[in-house]
Amino acid sequence: MTAIACALSTSLLLTLLGPCSEPAASPDVSTEKPLVRSSEAPRELPQQQTPTAGTFMSDHAREAAALRRAVIAGRFDLIHRVSAVIASDTWSSNLRPDYVPHVTALRRAAGAALDARSTQAAGAALGELGAACSACHREHGGPPVSTRSEGALTGGVGSMAIHGAAEQAMWEGLFTPSEASWKQGAELLASAPELASDIEDIAVLGRQLRDLALDAAAGKPRGDRYGSIVATCSSCHRRFSIEPH
Ligand code: HEC
Ligand code: HEC
Repeated sequence: MTAIACALSTSLLLTLLGPCSEPAASPDVSTEKPLVRSSEAPRELPQQQTPTAGTFMSDHAREAAALRRAVIAGRFDLIHRVSAVIASDTWSSNLRPDYVPHVTALRRAAGAALDARSTQAAGAALGELGAACSACHREHGGPPVSTRSEGALTGGVGSMAIHGAAEQAMWEGLFTPSEASWKQGAELLASAPELASDIEDIAVLGRQLRDLALDAAAGKPRGDRYGSIVATCSSCHRRFSIEPH
């Protein structure tokens, strides 16, 4: 048995990612703060007309993080729940006109996630979402470029912890955008311990992930590339969660 095949404890995966039939068993997602927007919270400060850009952004960052976890886990129930929140977002009643195309693109991507019925479609929608964040940030300013982009990235222990850290860096590279963070994440993913397996379709997914990471490392941050990568994470996790339990 190869390393990953030994590490492939289905029950562990189920514990960590949650079986499809039991939404409550997903600690990663369900322990999150509920997706209640600050803008929808009771108005304690009636004089404050609109939430600041910073408040909107932390809502979006939190929702995007929840969507990423749902996509990576291959949990369509959660993908649909989170993307419905993003798709119905009104942002602000008096949105700056030059923000409109970007907010429209963001909602369109969330709508695609809401419609997604395959890991490829869900991954692609998430990549599209990241690209929409990025387009607005490039035009109107966004988060400061990641402080982690200078070599502080460590993968933790175990190939899946490395995959998680690599995906996080690639996501930051995409939505910020930061070429340094993107490249660092892609290189970490490409050099992660091989996800080999005796089971052919799992081995194929492992090789596919490495090829996609190598491609990504050679290029700029791109939503479609990121989307194919998370779709591959998702396909493998789903492949395991369909085990009887
Ligand atoms: C319509 C334009 C627009 C879109 C779309 C957009 N952002 Fe932003 N974002 C901004 C602007 C402008 C800032 C800078 C705000 C500031 O400095 O107060 C920002 C800042 C941020 C910050 C830093 C916030 C802080 O407190 O410093 C984060 C994180 C962020 N965006 C995440 C996202 C994510 C994730 C998405 C996509 C799901 C997204 N943004 C989509 C315009 C946008
Ligand atoms: C070839 C199959 C396969 C692929 C591809 C795959 N994973 Fe996993 N993943 C697993 C298995 C099996 C487990 C549970 C056992 C373990 O942790 O090693 C797991 C568990 C995890 C966990 C929970 C464990 C932890 O250490 O936090 C995370 C997070 C994770 N994977 C992230 C990712 C990400 C992100 C990707 C894509 C960049 C990815 N995985 C791609 C098979 C895969």
